[in-house]
This record gives sequence, C-alpha cells and structure tokens, in this order.
Amino acid sequence: MNTIMTPAHMKEWSKEALRQGLTVGFVPTMGFLHEGHLSLMRRARAENDRVVASIFVNPTQFGPGEDFATYPRDPDADSQKCRDCGVDALFMPSATGMYPQGFQTFVDVTTVSQPMCGASRPGHFRGVATVVTKLFNIVMPTNAYFGRKDFQQLRVISRMVEDLDMNLRVVACETVREADGLAMSSRNARLTVAQRPQAVCLHQALLKARELFQAGETRPSAYLSAMTQRVQQEADTVIDYISLVDPDSLEEPAHIEGRVLAALAVRIGNVRLIDNMILE
Ligand code: PAJ
Repeated sequence: MNTIMTPAHMKEWSKEALRQGLTVGFVPTMGFLHEGHLSLMRRARAENDRVVASIFVNPTQFGPGEDFATYPRDPDADSQKCRDCGVDALFMPSATGMYPQGFQTFVDVTTVSQPMCGASRPGHFRGVATVVTKLFNIVMPTNAYFGRKDFQQLRVISRMVEDLDMNLRVVACETVREADGLAMSSRNARLTVAQRPQAVCLHQALLKARELFQAGETRPSAYLSAMTQRVQQEADTVIDYISLVDPDSLEEPAHIEGRVLAALAVRIGNVRLIDNMILE
C-alpha cells in the first residue's frame, strides 16, 4: 500500500492508474476506522481495479465549539486496517496541504443542506461539499463510496455530483451496526461505559417508527412523539432533531405514505450521534 501525503503526489498516482485504463474506487473518511468504513473499502475493492482511501479530519466541516480538536485519531491502526482491506493508496493530507494560505473557494449545495444536520450544524455541509470536491479533483475516482448512515451527506454529495457534472458514480452503502443495533461511528469511542447502553435508543426509536409505519400510521406527530418518548427514556440524552422526510427532497410531508426517511440526532453527554432508517 502506498501512503501519500500531498495532493500533488496523489494526483500523479491517480493519473498513472487512469493512463493505464484502470478504474479507481474511492472511500473518503475522517479516520478512526471501524467496520462501517471497512465495508465501504471492501465494496470498493470488489468493484474497482484500484482502491484509494483518504483520512482527513476536515476542519471546515466543524463549527466553533464542535469536536474538531477531540475527534478521535489513530493513524497507525487505520493504516493497518486499510492495508488489510486491500487499499492500494492511502491519502493522508495535512490541513495546510488541503487549505493553503489564500484558500477562498467553497461549494454550497443549497436546499438539501438546509434541514436536519444542516439546521443544527450551520456551515457543516458547505465544508463537506468543499472537501469532497477537492478530494474528487485530486483522486479522480471512477466510483466513490458513501454510507447511508450519513444519509443527508449522501444526498448532498449526490446532488452536487449531478449539478456540477462530476464524472464519477456515487455508490450508497448500507449502515453497519453493532450487535445491539447502534450504528457504528468513530464518535462511539467517546461514549462512557454508562452512556454506551443508552446510545441504543437512536436505533430503538427508529424501530418504533418502523412499527408505526407497518401499522399504517400516517400522522407525522404520532411518529415524532413515539420516537421522542423512546429517546427520553435514557437519562443523559438531549434531542437535536427527529425528522420524517421525503428521502429524495428531504422535505417534510404532511402525511406519511409511500417511502419516508426517519432520521434523528441525539446528544448523549457531549457526544452527538445520528441515525436513520428508510420506511417503505
Ligand atoms: P466519516 O464520518 O469518517 O465517514 C466516512 C464514510 O463512512 C462516510 O461515507 C460514512 O457515511 C461512512 N460510514 C460511517 N459510519 C458508517 C456505518 N456505520 N455504516 C456504513 N457506513 C458508514 O463522513 C465523513 O467521514 C466526512 O464527512 C467525509 C465524507 C470524509 C468528508 O470529510
């Protein structure tokens, strides 16, 4: 596995692969890798001639007072995991490599960035869209792999790729969960022993929503109150949002029917967790 630290070197590597007519699969991450990330890498490995993964804790997608400084990092363990998944090139740029002095260009995906995480984390998706655009321009992937765990992020990226005529395919991958249903996340490592069992309430709230859906419930308020109640059963939780939206537009329907996305963000102590489920 090649470990590549600069955008210039990464571009050279990718250009060489493209010159040889090879397909390049790309998995962008912020590191502290878990099975969710690795499932994306394995899928990329199965579907492409070459696989590139990136690890970059992107400062522009964190707001003031968010966990940029305390975001978990373990580059040595991550590097070994990438090697084990068959990654050919691991791109680990520095912050100044990605945002040199004078940097002043941002990508803003408007409507789908606004609700849910966009409302509680202003500027977050602007930072995500900007860094992902840069990574796409540097890596020049044929296929790029994203998890449904971050459903809104996936919508923002898909919209951006379509709107800006980017020459790649976005591949959506299923959420990988712990045995008790908790969606895997690098941030789970920051839960205390007491908070860890409480964190299952996000998934359990989604299961409640699914039960209602299967029983034919159409009132959004019924979903919101059942989900709220389940989360509030746990002592250390603060709800950031609970939303039922159209999976494509992310707009809230007046009645729940057809396909709907149930999504929520909950703070447990100072750890913010998200999860979602498509009901259909
Ligand atoms: P990060 O949170 O490290 O996630 C990297 C990729 O792994 C994302 O596509 C995310 O959806 C996926 N992922 C995370 N947990 C998952 C799980 N439990 N199951 C399946 N996939 C999972 O998302 C980011 O980084 C950043 O915003 C990034 C896109 C790299 C831009 O900085």
